[in-house]
Order: sequence, then structure tokens, then C-alpha cells
Amino acid sequence: MNEIYSEEQLQKLPFMDSSINLEKRVEDLLSRLNLEEKFKLCSGRRMWHTKPIKRLGVKSFTMYDGPHGVRLDEMGEKKSTYFPSAICRAATWDSKLSYEFGMAVAKEVREGGAHMLLAPGINIQRTPMNGRTFEYQTEDPHLNKVLAVATVKGIQSQKIAACVKHYICNNQEKNRKTVSSEVSERALQEIYLPAFKATVQEADAWSFMTCYNKVNGIYGSENHNLLRERLMDNWGFRGFTVSDWNATAYTSTEQCVKAGLSLEMPTANKFNKRNMTKAFNEGKFTEVDINENIRRLLRVMFLVGLFDDEKTLPRGSINTPEHQALARKIAEEGIILLKNDEDLLPLNIDKIQKIAVIGPNANFGIEGGDILSGGGSSINYPPYEITPLEGLRKKCKGKLEIIDKPSEADRTIIFAGLNHDHGMDSEWEDKDALGLPLEQVKLIQETMQENPHTIVVLINGSPIAMDDWIDQVPSVIEAWYGGMEAGTAIANVLFGDVNPSGKLTMTFPKELSDSPAHASKRTYPGNDKVFYDEGIFVGYRHFDARDIAPLFPFGYGLSYTTFTYESLTIDREKIRGDDVLKVSVDITNTGKINGKEVVQLYIQDVQSSVERPLKELKGFKKINLNSGQMKTIVFELNKHDLSFYHPIENSWVVEKGTFKILIGSSSRDIYLEGEVEYFE
Ligand code: BGC
Repeated sequence: MNEIYSEEQLQKLPFMDSSINLEKRVEDLLSRLNLEEKFKLCSGRRMWHTKPIKRLGVKSFTMYDGPHGVRLDEMGEKKSTYFPSAICRAATWDSKLSYEFGMAVAKEVREGGAHMLLAPGINIQRTPMNGRTFEYQTEDPHLNKVLAVATVKGIQSQKIAACVKHYICNNQEKNRKTVSSEVSERALQEIYLPAFKATVQEADAWSFMTCYNKVNGIYGSENHNLLRERLMDNWGFRGFTVSDWNATAYTSTEQCVKAGLSLEMPTANKFNKRNMTKAFNEGKFTEVDINENIRRLLRVMFLVGLFDDEKTLPRGSINTPEHQALARKIAEEGIILLKNDEDLLPLNIDKIQKIAVIGPNANFGIEGGDILSGGGSSINYPPYEITPLEGLRKKCKGKLEIIDKPSEADRTIIFAGLNHDHGMDSEWEDKDALGLPLEQVKLIQETMQENPHTIVVLINGSPIAMDDWIDQVPSVIEAWYGGMEAGTAIANVLFGDVNPSGKLTMTFPKELSDSPAHASKRTYPGNDKVFYDEGIFVGYRHFDARDIAPLFPFGYGLSYTTFTYESLTIDREKIRGDDVLKVSVDITNTGKINGKEVVQLYIQDVQSSVERPLKELKGFKKINLNSGQMKTIVFELNKHDLSFYHPIENSWVVEKGTFKILIGSSSRDIYLEGEVEYFE
């Protein structure tokens, strides 16, 4: 167990042989580690690494943030592609783009010498006030699942581990290290868990990061039920768990070990040698417990090729024109046209002479070397950033003049929104307000007086209340934090080179009290506990059930063209058991220009023994249609799509009866309706 090997002998040990079975390699290496070495592997060092075990040639396994590009150093000296924020990527409703993003960012991780990306973040967007809303994908479990699976598959296609985070119910930053999310089993099953589960069962995620908070009274890192029972035993997870950075602060060594926490980051605290030895000697955990945790970490070390000849691994690449083009494409497809009442957009470059470009986000931080993004651990450092003003300058060069006086311009574009300041879109704190900062509201109102042909482009990462200005403004765009090519993407959309096709993945409420998490102080922010009293009625499920008009509904987004929805066909009247129902619909682009549409399918259980949402998204397809073109699209539904988690029976059930099938372009724009009956 303590043999010293020469380099030559090491190379001949069975676990070094990449031609033998993965599990055999894992067991061989595990059997050679002594207890002290095993303890050593349980915690990190220098922020981003595991400790090497030189005696056995175990190199350190390296992991970096984050969800919008890999951050290779804290000083920003090493550059990498800055991709659009996750909420923007999700707004594309295009899982292929999530896959491509995953692949590209993983290549950058490889080139940066690391093995795991601390992403994707897939917590459900429960409240628009969460400082990390921009880092997460959506309020809807189905959409969350589809995009999370694609992202993890993309990352791991490059033999880089994805680290799915933050498991689970870390849905606010306020009190995140002490609060207990009090959530029902039904809400866990129907809303919060599905995407996490799918990344295991459909994408074989190699790592999960635990949350800072407690879930029903127990911290994520020592939560036996969440880790050992659900994730590992029930879902069949073969990867390892890592604590969020310092998330073990208030936990106990043995509970974490027994719950199945493999790796404590960033350094040894609960898993330091003294604590581990003491708990072990007192019989609080056994070597079998430790072996199980270490086995998982070793497995992933083998999966990413830590022991293999680097020449045999997928090649890395960083800051390539391809990655930058992908960042631009995701930004273009994630931009949402919220309002275009007078068809001010797209701008016609040949028909106007002067545009005024104003507002705090037009050229944010360019002098100070800052970038326009959300804040916190997701930040990375790109080699350049095209701001909206720069994007427009390039587009307009030699064709029209850009000025800063709305009164002298044919059109004015105000770049408003938020940034990564505390109290805005940033980790560590939640947002201070749902509306724009007052000076921006004033700017919009005054500008409208000077020039009614004004377009507001919002750059931010979470819902914004707009009631105090939106009626005065004819055109509004939500452009999100669009990554390093955001300015190019925005200019392309404003001038119609790209027809907008993004759709909201989170309801924009008119006011905060409309939002399900904001019924009382108990439901947000809570104190020691935050009560998820809304249960499964998160996002549009709440707005529908309580009949509240949102500012903009889930799934919403306009286009420069128009689409019609016709000929809904449901291939059977009744289904049962494992039958698969086929639902088809014809979509036609009836406008003059080409465009993309996101066709959405919702179901409604007409009569149920428990309260169910009026709509639940169960399918979506993004299609590209030329002007005049028609396409038939087909959805498939099965029993699980009709089922719900029964709070008394504690299992998923489908009840007999009629289900409505609703097809539309948003959760509030339903054009076609049909029915199917479930019988047994
Ligand atoms: C965040 C994680 C991040 C980690 C490392 C934590 O504060 O919650 O998402 O991966 O830091 O930077």
C-alpha cells in the first residue's frame, strides 16, 4: 500500500493502461491508495485543484468556472471566449446551440489545461429578484431539462466533465449560506429536480455541485437523501459530488462523508486530515464510505483522460473565430423583440440619415476595461468585447451618422438595463429593485419627449418592471448580456440582417407582488427558512392559475414576420399505457421576410384529483421558415407527459380523463386546441 515506484514501474501499473476496462482501472488505483492518501483526495487546494498523489502518479484534477466561458485566472490575463449569459442562451429555445456552446467551451477548458467546467447552472428561476437569474436558464422544468441535457452532452463530448450546479433549491442569493428552502416533495419532483435528474439519466453528467443552502433543514453537502438516496441510488449517477466553494462551513465531517460528498472545495475544512482522522477513529464513518466517495472521483479522473496520453484526447482550442461566431449566433437567436407597435424596427439603413445612440449600456465600461455582464463567479475575460455602440458604428460606417442628440436624429436607440453592480444582476446579493434605476426611467421619458421614434434596448439578465415607461415607447428589445459579440448581434437585429426569434424563458411580471415567490416575507426572502408556499405554481403556472396578467408572458417574443398555425392533427382520440401520441401542426410564414418561430405545446389536465396547472410545457420546436413557406411539425407525447406527482401516493400518476393539447407561440398566445383521453 505504500510502495514507491519508479517512473517506469508506474507506467506498467494496470490503472495506467487505457486499453483496460474503466471500472478495473478505478478499482486498481483505489486498491493502491492508503487511507491518508484517500483523505487527501477528499479536498481541494489553491482554489481550483485537487491534491496530487505523487507516489502513484495521480495528477491534480483542475476545474474552472463557469457558465458563460472558462475563467482561466483571476486577474483576467488569460483570455477566453465570453458567451452570452445562460438566460440568453436559453431564450434561443434551441438545444443544438446549447450543445454547440457546451462543445466550444469544453475545448477552451481543455486548451486551458483543466478537466472540468463548473457549469451549467440550472436552478429554477423562482424569483426575478435572484441576483443569479442571468446565470440560470428558465422557470420551466421541461425547457430547463432539454437545454441542460444538451449542454452537458456538448461539454462531455470533449471528455471534459460538466459540473451541474447548484443541487438544489439555491434559488436566491440572500442568506444563501444559512437559509433552508422549505419545499414540498411534489414541487421538488415536478419543478426543481427534473432537469438535474435528466442530466444524469439522459446525459450521464460526471459531476454535481451541492448548494450553499439547506433543503428542508439539511445542508446540501451533507444531505443523505438528496445525494446518496436520490442522486446516486435512485437516478444511477456514476460521477462525483463537489461542494460549492465553502458550502461545507456549517456541516459535519461525517455527515458529508456518509451523504456521499466526494470533494470539498476550495480547501480542506471539514475534510482536513485532523477532522477526517478523528471521525474515522471514532467510528463515525468507515473506509467503505470513503472508498465509495473516492471511487467516484477517480472514475471521472479516468473519464477525462487524466492518466492517458494527451495525444489521444480531443484537441482543445481557445478564442477561435468559430467560438466567437458561435457566441454571436447565440446572442442573435436569444435577443427578444418585446414590442414593435409602429414597426419602427427593423431600421432601414437607406431611409434614415442619423441615429442617436444613448444610455448607460451603449458603451459600458469600455474605458475602464470592464465588460457588460452579470457579476460574480460566472465572469470570464474575453480578448475583446463589441459593445452596442461599436456594433452600430461598424454597421453604419459610411452609410449613416451616429450622434448623441435625440432631438436631431431620425431614430434614437436607448441602451438601458442593469450591470454587475451589487443589487443588480450579480452573485452574492439579490436585486434591489425590479424596475430600472430611476435615472434611466427619467432618461427614457425625457427622450420620448424629444424624439417619439425611440427604441429601448434592454441589456440585463433578469425580468424588469416597465410599467412606468413602456406605454410611451413604441419598440422594445430584450438583448440580455450577449457575450463578447453582443454589439454585432444587436446591430444585426436592429437593422434586420437577423430576424429576432428569441422567446422569454421567464415571465416578466408587472410588479413584484404578482410574482409567486413574493406573496409574503415568509416566501421571500424568508429568514432561517424560506417557504416555497407556491408549491408547483412557479412562473407561468402561477400567473395562469391566479389569472394575473403578466407584463410579458413565458414563451413570448415577436418577429419581423408573421406566422399562422393551422391543421392541428392528433393521431388518436385515446391513449393508454406506453402509447405514443403524435400531434402535428402546420406553421406558415405569412410575412414578407424569412424568420424563425418557436412552436410550443402545452397540456392541461381537464379534471384532476389534485390542483394542476392550467398549462404545462411538454414540447417545443424552433423552425426556420422562408417567406411563404409552410412546415408540418410533429410532437410526440407519452404517459409521463400527462402525469403529475401525487402528494399522497408519493409517486407519479396519470389519471383517466381528458387532456387538452394547446399549441401556440407563447404561454398566453394559444392558437390551436385539441384533446386526447387517457384510459386504462
Ligand atoms: C458559486 C459557484 C462557483 C464557485 C467557484 C461559488 O461562489 O456559487 O457557482 O462555481 O463559487 O467560483
